[in-house]
Amino acid sequence: MPLDIIRADITQIHADAIVNAANSTLLGGGGVDGAIHRAAGSALLEECRALGGCETGQAKLTGGYRLSCKYIIHTVGPIWQGGELREAELLYSCYKNSLLLAQENGCESIAFPLISAGVYGYPKAEAVSVAIRAIGDFLRENDMDVTLVIFDRSSLIAGSHLFGSIAQYIDDTYAEENTEAPEMRLMNANSMAAAFAEPAPLQAEEVLEHTDLFLSDEPEHHDEKKARKKGRIRSFFKTPSAKKEAMFEGFVPPEYSTEPQEPASLSELLSSIDESFSQSLLRLIDRSGMTDVQVYRKANIDRKLFSKIRSDIDYKPKKQTALAFAIALELTLPETLSLLAKAGYTLSDSIKFDLIVKYFIINGRYNIFELNQALFSFDQTLIGC
Ligand code: APR
Repeated sequence: MPLDIIRADITQIHADAIVNAANSTLLGGGGVDGAIHRAAGSALLEECRALGGCETGQAKLTGGYRLSCKYIIHTVGPIWQGGELREAELLYSCYKNSLLLAQENGCESIAFPLISAGVYGYPKAEAVSVAIRAIGDFLRENDMDVTLVIFDRSSLIAGSHLFGSIAQYIDDTYAEENTEAPEMRLMNANSMAAAFAEPAPLQAEEVLEHTDLFLSDEPEHHDEKKARKKGRIRSFFKTPSAKKEAMFEGFVPPEYSTEPQEPASLSELLSSIDESFSQSLLRLIDRSGMTDVQVYRKANIDRKLFSKIRSDIDYKPKKQTALAFAIALELTLPETLSLLAKAGYTLSDSIKFDLIVKYFIINGRYNIFELNQALFSFDQTLIGC
């Protein structure tokens, strides 16, 4: 995955380059600087002495010594002084210059700590946003595996506003989903009966029987299911009781119809098979006007995986991969559900991961790196691959 976010101790990471959040002397200190020097050994300090220090926003390279990396890239983040002294610009430069230095030295993978978010006091949510913006900008033009290493999870609580509105959306949607539970449904039915001044409502099993009658359990019928259930209960209680029974007399929802279906041979069914995920994806890329490279980079998908999908018409992607392309292509929710269905997936209001992705799509927020920051904040799997 071109940009991954993990919780770890950066001194334990295997990468071509590990980035150190140093100070301008490059002679070691506390925090991640101290941890890296301790793990690398005293020879690192000797090489650092010869570098003659480093400017804020700049980056310098040494050997990796006892760390599991070829190089250590030392960069000096800005000290937070309220945000009016070019702190964001300097912090962005730390990531950009470290990535360019790694690229110049042939690195294919690099790991960053959250620069300036410790002793230097940069507000964590803003520090993450600058990191993700700088890394995302680099990955839109270049191939490299970048890992943002978070030492304490609190660092990655998405910006308070974004985090709060996602949490609210999850609560609202979960709540709606759960009011459909049988006992809640009866309560709704009772209050609806009261609203229509109807005689005492049916017993629980009758309400359930009448509302479940129409409802297939397939997830893709989910929204329809909710609407019909509500509609069905409402119209049910408005109908005079004599007619109620008639309403359901012998009714069988079409999907369970016992009418003899036209017998179709397997070969007939197979001959009308729909386009595959891979075919849909390539068609949508053509429609978008973007190049393959632009799309897979925007999707946080590496080149090798994209080549596999492009060359195998029957390729079955993971759900995270399919969603990554939906975000990169800025698909609407129905288009996203249609693309997911090609790979046998859907989005469910009962799954937090799905709700967070849905939140971003219905709010038109198609930045996959921002989405991954939010998914990480909620302890969910990231998307891309
Ligand atoms: N692995 C990964 N991340 C770590 C580790 C570790 N072993 N130790 C600390 N961190 C995280 C912190 O939680 C913080 O989010 O690194 C981030 C940066 O914190 P600092 O190390 O304090 O770096 P910074 O805020 O840039 O301040 C730099 O601190 O250590 C001194 O010499 C350094 O003077 C310089 C200043």
